[in-house]
Amino acid sequence: MRMGILTGGGDCPGLNAVIRAVVKTAVHEYNDEVIGIRDGFSGLIENRVHDLDLDRASGILSRGGTILGSSNRDNPFEYGDKSTGAVRHIDVSDTVVENFHKNNLDCLIVIGGDGTLDIAHRLSAKGVNLVGIPKTIDNDLNSTEVTFGYDTAVGTVMDALDKIQTTAESHHRVMVVEVMGRDAGWIATASGIAGGAHIILIPEIPFHPEVIARKIYERKERGKHFTVIVVAEGATPLGGDRVIKRTVEEASESVRLGGIGEWVANQVEELTRVETRCTVLGHIQRGGSPSAFDRILATRYGAAAVVLAHEGKFDHMVSLQTPNIVAAPLTDALHQMKRVNVNGSHVITGKNIGISFGDK
Ligand code: F6P
Repeated sequence: MRMGILTGGGDCPGLNAVIRAVVKTAVHEYNDEVIGIRDGFSGLIENRVHDLDLDRASGILSRGGTILGSSNRDNPFEYGDKSTGAVRHIDVSDTVVENFHKNNLDCLIVIGGDGTLDIAHRLSAKGVNLVGIPKTIDNDLNSTEVTFGYDTAVGTVMDALDKIQTTAESHHRVMVVEVMGRDAGWIATASGIAGGAHIILIPEIPFHPEVIARKIYERKERGKHFTVIVVAEGATPLGGDRVIKRTVEEASESVRLGGIGEWVANQVEELTRVETRCTVLGHIQRGGSPSAFDRILATRYGAAAVVLAHEGKFDHMVSLQTPNIVAAPLTDALHQMKRVNVNGSHVITGKNIGISFGDK
C-alpha cells in the first residue's frame, strides 16, 4: 500500500510516537510506502507532502509535538479564504480528494480529535479510504477508553500542583490553578486527585463560590491555612456561563476558553479575605516528552491503524477497549463528547477523601 499520514488539530505528546509506529509497521510488516502530509489537512489542500521513510521516523519516540506540523484552521469543507480581504469559507474538499489520488495513495491515516476525525469521516463519504487515530489531551473522545496525550498532560499538571502546594503552604494562601480540557473535566479531575488538590471544579459539576469558601474555612479550622483549587477552563458557577477569552472566526473551534481561574480567585478572596493567587498552565500541558503510558498507547494505536488499513476497515478509528485495540466506526466517536461521570469512580473517590467539587 501507499499510505499518507497527517496530524490535525491541537498537538499533544505522543503524536511522533504514533508516526514512528505507523512507518515502522508499514515498512517492516507490509513493505508499504508512507508519505507525510504537512500541517494537517492544509498539506492535502496545498499538496505539501514528502516521503516518510524509516530514517525520517527514527529518533522521535520521546519528542513532543509533531514532526509533520498541525493546524486547526484547515477544514477543507469550510476553508478560510482570505483572498478577498474578508474571511470567506469555501469548500475545497474536492481538491483534497484530487491530491489524495494525485499522490497515488491507497489510504490516509488521520491522527486527530473530534474536529479532525469529523473531517475524516466526511472525506470518507467522498471515497477517500482512511483510518483514524484518536488524540487529545482533553480525553473527551467517545468510543475509546483513553486518548493518547491525556496521561502526559495529567502528569504535567500533577508536577505543577506539587510545586504549588509548597508555596501555598508557606504563604498561607489559596492557590487556583486553571487547566485545559474544554468542556470536559478529565484533566482537572485526574490531576487534582494525583496532585492532592483540595477543591476541583469541572464543567460537569456547576459550583457555588460559597461552597468553595466554606471548604477553605473548614480547612483553616483544622489548622490548614492553605488550599489548592484546580479549575477546568470550562467550569461554570451554577447558573453562570463559561468564561471566554476570545472568539476567533477563522479557527475550527471559534471559542477560546480562559479566565475562570482568575474569576474564582477574585470570588474566593472577596468571600474569605484569604490572599489568593491564580496560575494558568495553558499550553505547557500540550508539550513535553510523552509518558511511558502514552508512548505505549501511541505505538499500539499506530501499529493497529496500519493493520486496519490492510484489512480494509476504513471510516473507522483505532480504539482502546482494555486489553485490546479494536476498530470503532468513526460515526460512533463523533459529536458525543465523553465527559466525566458525576457519579463515577473518579468523582466518588475524590469526594470520599474529602475533595470538594464545589457543589455541596
Ligand atoms: O483540545 C485541546 C486543547 O488544548 C484544549 O484543552 C484547549 O481549550 C484548546 O486545545 C486550546 O487550543 P489552541 O491551541 O487553539 O489555543
